[in-house]
Amino acid sequence: MPVDAILGLQWGDEGKGKIVDYLADQYHAVCRFQGGPNAGHTLWIQGKKIVLHTLPSGIFRSNTLNLIGNGVVIDPITLSKEIDTVHSDIPDLIDRLFISRKAHLILPTHRWIDLASEHAKGKQKIGSTLRGIGPCYMDKTGRNGLRIGDINQNSFRSDYFALKEKHLQFLKQFPQADFNIEEEEQKWFDSIEKINQLQSINAEYWLNSMLVKNASVLAEGAQGTMLDVDFGTYPYVTSSNTIAAGICTGLGIAPNKIRKVIGIAKAYCTRVGSGPFPSELLDETGEKLRKEGNEFGSTTGRPRRCGWLDLVQLRYSVMINGVTDLCITKIDVLNHFEEIKMVNGYVLNNNEQTNELPFHLETIKHVTTTPLKGWQQELSNITDKEHLPSEVKSFLNSIQTNTTIPVSILSTGPGRDELMIF
Ligand code: IMP
Repeated sequence: MPVDAILGLQWGDEGKGKIVDYLADQYHAVCRFQGGPNAGHTLWIQGKKIVLHTLPSGIFRSNTLNLIGNGVVIDPITLSKEIDTVHSDIPDLIDRLFISRKAHLILPTHRWIDLASEHAKGKQKIGSTLRGIGPCYMDKTGRNGLRIGDINQNSFRSDYFALKEKHLQFLKQFPQADFNIEEEEQKWFDSIEKINQLQSINAEYWLNSMLVKNASVLAEGAQGTMLDVDFGTYPYVTSSNTIAAGICTGLGIAPNKIRKVIGIAKAYCTRVGSGPFPSELLDETGEKLRKEGNEFGSTTGRPRRCGWLDLVQLRYSVMINGVTDLCITKIDVLNHFEEIKMVNGYVLNNNEQTNELPFHLETIKHVTTTPLKGWQQELSNITDKEHLPSEVKSFLNSIQTNTTIPVSILSTGPGRDELMIF
């Protein structure tokens, strides 16, 4: 059986966790392939809010195996805390959780470097979650990193101290940042012992042999396409490939194993951190979106920037990922808007009109929009497409027509079952 994927098509926070959790039952395994504890996948399980940072979102489904793939960067402190938090709800967690030996470890000094270098960037700061993600991926590509499979090597402690020393030298170029390395290091080594109890495996063999045996696999993306290190709004991006291509490098499976690519987009757009955001609304409409959508970061608590759905950006993401199915989330946030807009094009600083993303999004002078009538009613009691208000149908039709991809899932609220499958 092939691999299906769930990916974010915007700037992250599209609601992927809930959709993965919902679909997980249909798959033998759910596999995270990139990112790290910068992600915050929110699930509502029996009325309880749970935010997962490193654990795959299939962990709450008792028949599903879960893999943290080689493309993920792991902070042992966050992971062991996360396991402690959910363990009472998932007694068999240890049996269903696997970690690739090739996944890289985030060291305390990676977080320190993140903090110091962001600080030094001043106005140019990325708005990083400061979880050490960028510095850890830098060590990975710089061939300095420590991996899960290194933990049981005799040289692990000395390799750690050698890398820490390199980091301390590197940190000398930055002004002092407030960081208690002794305390963090103690927590790190304690957590290493804890995560060493988990099943670390040669995941590429594990996964491919499952596929040979006809198992079905769901690849779970973190962040979103516009935060991809190659195709996002560089340099205001994360440090991994968040797009479909990242599934192959982050799990060790071949491109021809991928079948469905389910692209998740909110019915509007949000972004946390710095960087260009063409459809951003800096007025009371943006404020209303933030309030209705409770748009505050699940990892950092920062208020998210809000704007209308951007069809230019969505078409780009559909193209880059080879999206086969669209899932629109948080449609209910638009329930109380008289008028809703969609961005359909950009006017650049030289007055040229375009419906492609320019190299520098900063060269966009303004966006052009199509107005749509709002439905101004609750959707919570509606369970099938036929009974949706005509305005919702028009909204979804515009997305389908513009992207040429069917909307096959609609999320109408935060709960596990507030979903329509078309
Ligand atoms: P970093 O990956 O923590 O270095 O952050 C780089 C950029 O990506 C910042 O603008 C973050 O706000 C953003 N970012 C990272 N992870 C997420 C996420 O899971 N959701 C939304 N934005 C994210």
